[in-house]
Parts: sequence; structure tokens; C-alpha cells
Amino acid sequence: MGIVFYPIGMKKIIRVWDLPIRLFHWLLVVCIIGSIISVNIGGNAIQWHAYCGYAILILLVFRVTWGLVGSTHARFTNFIPSKATLFNYVSGKSQAVLGHNPLGAISVVVLLVALLIQAITGLFADDEIAFQGPLAKYVSESVMGIFSQIHEANSGLIYGLIGLHLAAIFYYQKIKGENLIKPMLVGDKEIDPSEVAKYSPTDLGQASKDGGLQRGLALLLLSLIAVAVGYLITSS
Ligand code: HEM
Ligand code: HEM
Repeated sequence: MGIVFYPIGMKKIIRVWDLPIRLFHWLLVVCIIGSIISVNIGGNAIQWHAYCGYAILILLVFRVTWGLVGSTHARFTNFIPSKATLFNYVSGKSQAVLGHNPLGAISVVVLLVALLIQAITGLFADDEIAFQGPLAKYVSESVMGIFSQIHEANSGLIYGLIGLHLAAIFYYQKIKGENLIKPMLVGDKEIDPSEVAKYSPTDLGQASKDGGLQRGLALLLLSLIAVAVGYLITSS
């Protein structure tokens, strides 16, 4: 492989987060805030808690699907680390990475699983006042109680994970001088010529495809998932 030459001052711009991932992320944030506000208002607002929950469920199923068929940096196989990779990263031996770093990847997976558990248990939960999740009527009182308890306990875990998520991003910003937020907003990472050597050439050579075709496929998948979830909720 030859030496790649970048003119002084010219940054290498690489698409890391495709539009579907970015929309997933910020819609997820909006819906989670909505679900927390509405459940705290209580009363009839629990209906809005449920709507936010359904939207979150649709987003999560989409994200899991996109983790299988989506662009380079969206794929689970490209960021879920092996033990060795994780160990190297933690001991500071590995190179910088464009997508989720090995430690970040673990937290992403844990967060996605915790949110999935939350959205699914919500479907079977009961507020013991006037609202039941749409699938609660298919299970016994005691099972419903268990789902409600998991839903309540797991919400504490989710708050903790979100706190950790924000702390990690703040740490990268302030201590490591790496802005992770901008790429999650605009999609691209800008690599300064002086930093190119920190990354592996294969990593730098792999951008996430984010063209009309990929975005169209994402929209199609999201629509199908929304219809399926909508059917699950309303047909019951
Ligand atoms: C409700 C709160 C939040 C949740 C549940 C959440 C969840 C997630 C998830 C699941 C990912 C992985 C993205 C993927 O590959 O699908 C992620 C990544 C990310 N989030 Fe959040 N997020 C939240 C709030 C925020 C906020 C407020 C910010 C910005 C200040 C933020 C900044 C980021 C960034 C920069 C990444 C990419 C990290 C990386 O480069 O590896 N998140 N978030
Ligand atoms: C990931 C999405 C969701 C999040 C983050 C979330 C979060 C929460 C939180 C924080 C509470 C308060 C727990 C407590 O202190 O009692 C709660 C309660 C509740 N949620 Fe969710 N929820 C989600 C999805 C859903 C869904 C999809 C439904 C059903 C349609 C649902 C139905 C309920 C019900 C019925 C309660 C009251 C349970 C009780 O009082 O024990 N939630 N949720």
C-alpha cells in the first residue's frame, strides 16, 4: 500500500453515521423524553406514554434490522468487539476507530437491549389505575404484575445508562478532545492530516454508504416495521 498524501490543512471527510442512524438516534431521544414527561404527568397522559413507547419500539426494531443490513458503521458485526479487541482497547493498545469504539459498542448494545425490554414489558404493564398495555389482557394478573415490576425496575437502569452515555460523551469532549456529537448530527467525521496515522488504513477506507438507495431501503424497512407494530397493538 502506497503512502497516502493529504495536502496540508486539508481534512479527510468520511461519512460515519448514515441518515437513518442519525434520525433513529434523535427521534429516540425525543420519544424517550416524551415518554418520561408523560408518565410523570400521570392521569390521561399515560396514553401519550404509550404512544411514545410504541414509537420507541418501532425505532428499536428498525435499529436492530439496520444493524444487520445497514451501512458499514451501523452493522453489529462491524462494532461488537471480540474479547481481545475489547482488552486491547481498554489497555490503550488499539488504534482510534471511526465508528463506535469497543467500549462504546458494549454500552450501545446494553442500552438497546434495556430499551427493548422496557418497550416490550410496557405492552403488558398495568398502572393499577385506568391504563393497561395493549397485550396485558392476554396474560394473568400475576404475570401482568411481574411485567409491571420489571418495567418499573428497568426504568431505573435506563436512567443510569443514559447518565453514563452522557458522561462518556462529555468525557470524550472535555478530556480526550474528541467531538462525537457533531458526527451524530451531520454524519461525517473530519480527520485532520496530523491524526490520520492514529487510524488503521482499512478503517479510513470504509465510509458508510448513505445514498438514496440506502435511505430508501431504510424508509421501506421502517414503514414495514411500523405497520407490523401498529397491527400488533391495534388488533389486540
Ligand atoms: C434519551 C437519551 C439517549 C439515548 C437513549 C441515546 C442512545 C444512543 C444509542 C442507542 C446510540 C448508538 C447509536 C447507534 O449505533 O444506533 C447512541 C450514540 C450516540 N449518542 Fe446518544 N442517546 C441519548 C442521548 C444523547 C444525547 C443528549 C447526546 C448528545 C449530547 C447523544 C450523543 C450520542 C453520540 C455522540 C453517539 C455516538 C457515540 C459514538 O461515536 O460512538 N446521545 N446514543
Ligand atoms: C422504552 C419505552 C418506555 C420507557 C422508557 C418507559 C418508562 C416508564 C417509566 C419510567 C415508568 C414509571 C415507572 C414507575 O415508577 O412506576 C413507566 C410506567 C408505565 N409504563 Fe412505560 N415506558 C416505556 C414504554 C411503555 C409502553 C410501550 C407501554 C404500554 C403501552 C408502557 C406502559 C406503562 C405503564 C402502564 C406504566 C405504569 C406502570 C406502573 O405504574 O407500575 N410503557 N414507564
